[in-house]
Amino acid sequence: MAASALPDLASLILDNLPLGLWVADAKGELLYANAEFQEIMGMGARDDVAVGGYAEPYGICDRDGQPYPESRMPFVQAMQARTTVVVDDIVIHRRDGRRVNVRATARPQLDASGAVQSVVIAFFDITREVEAERARAHSESQQRHTQRLEALGKLAGGIAHDFNNLLAGIKMLASHVRLGEEDPARLSSLRYIDDITDRGAELTRALLRFAQKESNHPRAVDFDAVIRDTVELAQRTIDRRIEVIADLGAPGATILGHRPQVEQVVMNLVVNARDAIPGAGRLILRTRSDGDHVVLEVEDTGTGIEPRVMARLFEPYVTTKDVGPLKGTGLGLAMVYGIVQSHDGTVEVAHTGPRGTIMRVRLPRAPPGTAVEAVAVVPARLRGGAGTILFADDEPLMCEAARRGLRGLGYEVVTAEDGARAVEIYQRERERISAVVLDVAMPNMGGVEAMEQLRLLDPTVRVLFTTGLTLGTDAAALAAGAHALLPKPYDLGALSEALERLLAPH
Ligand SMILES: Nc1ncnc2c1ncn2[C@@H]1O[C@H](COP(=O)(O)OP(=O)(O)OP(=O)(O)O)[C@@H](O)[C@H]1O
Ligand SMILES: [Mg+2]
Repeated sequence: MAASALPDLASLILDNLPLGLWVADAKGELLYANAEFQEIMGMGARDDVAVGGYAEPYGICDRDGQPYPESRMPFVQAMQARTTVVVDDIVIHRRDGRRVNVRATARPQLDASGAVQSVVIAFFDITREVEAERARAHSESQQRHTQRLEALGKLAGGIAHDFNNLLAGIKMLASHVRLGEEDPARLSSLRYIDDITDRGAELTRALLRFAQKESNHPRAVDFDAVIRDTVELAQRTIDRRIEVIADLGAPGATILGHRPQVEQVVMNLVVNARDAIPGAGRLILRTRSDGDHVVLEVEDTGTGIEPRVMARLFEPYVTTKDVGPLKGTGLGLAMVYGIVQSHDGTVEVAHTGPRGTIMRVRLPRAPPGTAVEAVAVVPARLRGGAGTILFADDEPLMCEAARRGLRGLGYEVVTAEDGARAVEIYQRERERISAVVLDVAMPNMGGVEAMEQLRLLDPTVRVLFTTGLTLGTDAAALAAGAHALLPKPYDLGALSEALERLLAPH
């Protein structure tokens, strides 16, 4: 190689190194900067910048966006340590708006006496690595979050399911005792029992919704109507100083779901928004279409979500309203989460800060032609009947309650503690049994399998399923050919009505 080629080669290399390189003397005066330095910084090296004042002119910041402390600048550290230092938390805020993450190494050159002559500093662009790491950490934390909510859901769902069974028994017994009761004081106590079980049922329903265990045959729900109704209700009931605005950008949107549940999602978000606004403010419900989804944003001008609840926002019993006039249970967003999940949608905090919060829900649209849900709630009346009912439930309290209640209405009752026993009894006494009530979830043999066995014995058997609201059971039950399905807790009125319909001549 010709000697004269060497300087050219050196500058060729320096200017093509994929790292920003600059050299300063011991006083910090710039001796050299290569082309990549300019690439990373978004500007050329500046002669007018001296030690102690790098951060501002070059836009050198730490990862929190604060000006990088001069005392921690690689040059300054290398001067002090008199050996190579590495710094990897620098972020360059370039004039053009780009952020570049930088790892810097600074290596001092010492003379024979050990004094620093100059410092060679290299800037590596590590933006891609930092971003990949951030994305990985984010998705890991999302995953942990989902897993945690799943585990909590399992626990809550299990407890709620068992409690529901107990409540169902109490409710049935109360309606049975009421049958022959005339004493007003006792009647009022019985109504009390009924109210208390209803409130208990509300709680278990909330937990079941969080656990996504509520039975669910999706229908087309008129989403606009849900929002309009909620807004109207909110306008009537919320403090006048809070302006409630609907901004419906997805006219005619129908989503696939269950209207009362969807209403509950919207209502919970609106109530939270209201609670977050101290005094006067604004609450906006905004909808828009996004492909095959409908998006709802509930925006408030409230005080923002407190950081201490943010990480566990959707878990049950997480609340900041545990004291004071608002007093909440912390089940609101847990329910919202469960319902949205069971609707194959998502819910997230789109924004929160001291000036307000935006909660965002995405729900899948109903495919064209999906049946629209009828909104009809008819209170059940007690119906007398005759014949023998085979009643299978693994909860003895339920069996006893059904026995007493249905006898009071004129039925004979035989009970079974599981599906296998029900089949056995049916085989023996089919002549006198007019209908079979099967709980879906029972040990040994569940309702669905029992029903199949009963069918083999007698294809004309009439079956009513009852369910403690376990996800998918209704679909399985109806697919198996059950005639009807009664969710727990039901009272004697609902049971008697279902039986009357079941026993009506076909
Ligand atoms: N829009 C909002 N702005 C500020 N904080 C909110 C908002 N929505 C929810 N939060 C916070 O999240 C917590 C949990 O909300 P969640 O709806 O689950 O329970 P809650 O409202 O406290 O009780 P409940 O809904 O049972 O009445 C609230 O206590 C509140 O601190
Ligand atoms: Mg709430």
